[in-house]
Amino acid sequence: MANLNVVVASQADALSSAESSDLPPVDRVEGLGVDDFVARYRLPRRPVVLTDALKQWPANGRYTPEFFARAHADLEIRCAGKTYRLAEALSLQDQATEGHPGPYPCTIKDARSFVRDIMPRLPWALPNRHTHPLVPELIFNSISHIDIFFGGAGNQFPFPHYDYLRMHGWVAQLYGNKEMTLYEPGQEHLMYVDPQRPWRSVMEYADQPDYERYPLFRQVRSRKVLVRAGEALFIPCGTWHTARCLDPGISVLFDQLEASNWREFTGEVVAMRRRAGQPLKAAAIGAYLRVLGPLLGIAERFGANRRPDWGVPTHAGEGTMLHTAGAG
Ligand SMILES: [Fe+2]
Repeated sequence: MANLNVVVASQADALSSAESSDLPPVDRVEGLGVDDFVARYRLPRRPVVLTDALKQWPANGRYTPEFFARAHADLEIRCAGKTYRLAEALSLQDQATEGHPGPYPCTIKDARSFVRDIMPRLPWALPNRHTHPLVPELIFNSISHIDIFFGGAGNQFPFPHYDYLRMHGWVAQLYGNKEMTLYEPGQEHLMYVDPQRPWRSVMEYADQPDYERYPLFRQVRSRKVLVRAGEALFIPCGTWHTARCLDPGISVLFDQLEASNWREFTGEVVAMRRRAGQPLKAAAIGAYLRVLGPLLGIAERFGANRRPDWGVPTHAGEGTMLHTAGAG
């Protein structure tokens, strides 16, 4: 574990964990090798902040609100279903306060020309199975795999949720500070899970919960973690969380599907089909994915699913669109 530097309860964590319970702070690690990451965090499903994760990305240190306002002022950006000029959205985010947040979530409508600035895909986030040709694209339908997101003070993704289809989540912070609240596993009985959308709670504004309506939520154990510019947070599959921007920020949000969350992913896909009233399709896709998983595992031993280029086109007009992701 050469050069591994685990900093527990750093000053930044102390600032950000005022509401944490007695849970230990999320590790903040520099110089973590991929094998160590897998053994210490991915397989045991422990979140971690990799403090030097983005140093290979051309975007690191270059992507600032000023850069985008200067170089891409007229770019179309989607904010809560409305389209803005990027310069306009950035101005609104800059003026935002906790009490008067700007529009949210704001994501670049067509991010293909920016993908080359966030290469390579982080080595800790490989392998990834989304783009393998044997994994049916229609499973992912309207969901997102990668998203360049702009936020301002007061913007938040306020309802507890876990990332769709139980994929691992990654928050790569290029500018500003994002505060994540991570809930301990196994507390679904306290989370007011939406029966129609069991990956999220019906309860919004988890930072200021309505305990009259949601009394069980008082018992929920959580911890906060700050993600700063240049850092990436790994959120293990199935981890319930919320997100809040502390200031104007730029994040890359993406997900990961690999061997250790394949079983849960398969279960989610099957359950989704069943909820849609398609039991035969549910059984068929479940059987297919259960066979496919071990085959992909064998292929990955020989280097499959390790594309550093995210497996997406790098400029407009080439191939398919990027999916766009949720905001936290
Ligand atoms: Fe999320």
